[in-house]
Amino acid sequence: MDNNNNNVYKFRSLVSKQDREALHGHLGQLVWFTGLSASGKSTIAHRAEQMLHKLGCSTYVLDGDNVRHGLCKDLGFSREDRAENLRRIGEMVKLFVDAGIIVLTAFISPYSQDRQTIKDLVGRERCLEVYVECPVEICASRDPKGLYKRALAGELDGFTGVSAPYEPPTDPDLTLASAQLPPDQAARLVLDLLIHRGCITNSENQIAG
Ligand code: ADX
Repeated sequence: MDNNNNNVYKFRSLVSKQDREALHGHLGQLVWFTGLSASGKSTIAHRAEQMLHKLGCSTYVLDGDNVRHGLCKDLGFSREDRAENLRRIGEMVKLFVDAGIIVLTAFISPYSQDRQTIKDLVGRERCLEVYVECPVEICASRDPKGLYKRALAGELDGFTGVSAPYEPPTDPDLTLASAQLPPDQAARLVLDLLIHRGCITNSENQIAG
């Protein structure tokens, strides 16, 4: 059977990624937060975005709860669905990076293999992997959505950290111990990392606010 994609041709952009990055004053970059539900990924990502925005950077945050209401609303939490969830997100963040934007993502992304797929797709040099490390007992005590309670009561199958695995990164670019570190300090460390890795190229953007 003829696959329609065989008849689709890519159009080469007249504005390069480098052109866009020069305009923004920073590289297109992915900051990939991974960690348990309620570990603090979204809070830190949004705070880091706010700080970067104040420095004049073009940013965007994507998180699991939002994406699962739109692009990935047909997916659940089986091993296959989580892989597909992250595959789609990987394709999306690749476009953000190509657009010269600093995209910060907050997905549990519990499997190393899926995180590796994203790094391969986007390019390792454009990815910073940030592990938001927090003991499951603390995440369960925060339980903002009441999901740990339900999972521990056996009412929710395949809940990460309770009845489904979480594989911590073995070589993250940054580890944030969110049980000890207030969100502002954690976000500041993310900013420092971006600056030290040379992601922010316009020196005016580097003056910390
Ligand atoms: S991922 O595993 O595919 O990366 P994702 O980050 O998109 O997960 O979504 C996680 C959010 O979905 C959690 O913060 C939680 O609110 C909700 N959720 C619902 N069911 C589950 C489950 N079985 N495991 C983990 N999170 C779940």
